[in-house]
Amino acid sequence: MENISRRSLITAGLGAGLVAALPGTAVADPAAVRPGVAVSTADDAGLRTNPFTLGIASGEPWPDGFVIWTRLAVNPLAEDGLGGMPSRNAAVAWEVAEDPAMRRVAARGVEHARSETAHSVHVELKGLKPGREYFYRFRTGRHLSEVGRTLTSPAPGETPAALAMAFASCAQYEHGYFTAYKRLAEDHPDLVLHLGDYLYEYKKGSYVIGGGNPRDHEGPETVSLAGYRQRHAQYKSDADLQAAHAIAPWLVVWDDHEVDNNWADDIPENNDAAQRHH
Ligand SMILES: [Fe+2]
Repeated sequence: MENISRRSLITAGLGAGLVAALPGTAVADPAAVRPGVAVSTADDAGLRTNPFTLGIASGEPWPDGFVIWTRLAVNPLAEDGLGGMPSRNAAVAWEVAEDPAMRRVAARGVEHARSETAHSVHVELKGLKPGREYFYRFRTGRHLSEVGRTLTSPAPGETPAALAMAFASCAQYEHGYFTAYKRLAEDHPDLVLHLGDYLYEYKKGSYVIGGGNPRDHEGPETVSLAGYRQRHAQYKSDADLQAAHAIAPWLVVWDDHEVDNNWADDIPENNDAAQRHH
C-alpha cells in the first residue's frame, strides 16, 4: 500500500503548521510558505478526481536548487484553458527529498495554485547540495502526484565524472506517438535539453503527413492564452512525455512552432505583412 504510506508521510510532514523551514533546509519563495496552513482535504478545492493529470516537471538546475512544476487540471482539454478547475485557489504541498521513498526530506512547503495562472505551481528551490540527485512530489487534499527525480547542477568549477544528457526537439503530437520520450526516460539522463518545437500551433487537419496523422490536436491554432493552455495541457497529458519530465531536469528554448511556423522576429508564416506587436 505504497500510496497510503506516502500519504501518511506527507500528512505527518504537513501537520502542526510545520511548513516553516526546518534548520538547514531550503525555503523556496518565502512568501509562498505560509506557516500554519494546514492542508486538509478541503484545500484541494473540493476535487473528487485526481488533478495531477498533467504530470510533474523540474528544470533550470543550478548548484543549490532547481524549479519544480505541476499544474492541476481535472479536464485538461477544457476550451477555456482552465483545466476544468473551480475558480478558487487550491493549496498544493510540495516536498523535496534525498531518496525516492521521500523519507529524507530536504525541503517542503505549500503553494497556492491560483486560477489566474491556471492552477499551475512553480517552486524555485535554493539551499540544496550541488551535483546531487533529489526527488520531489506534490499533494493537494487527498491527491498525491507521482515522485519525480531531478538533480542540482555541479558546484562552480567542479566537473562531474559523468553527465548523461539527452536532447529532443520537433515533437509534433499529431505526427506520431511520443515513444522517443519514453525511451529517453528509460536512458535515465541527468539533464534533458529541449531545443524547441515542444508543441505545434496547428489546428487539426492543417499539417497532415504520410497516410494520415495517428492523432489530432484539440482546439484552434494557438493564438490566445486559453488556446496555448489547452494545447500545452494536451501535450502534457501524454504519458511518455510525462515520463521524460519525471526522470530529469530540463533546460529549454523555444523555436518557431511555439509561435508560428517559420516565424522570425516580426515576420509570420504565409508571407503576411510584417506585424508590429506592442
Ligand atoms: Fe522543428
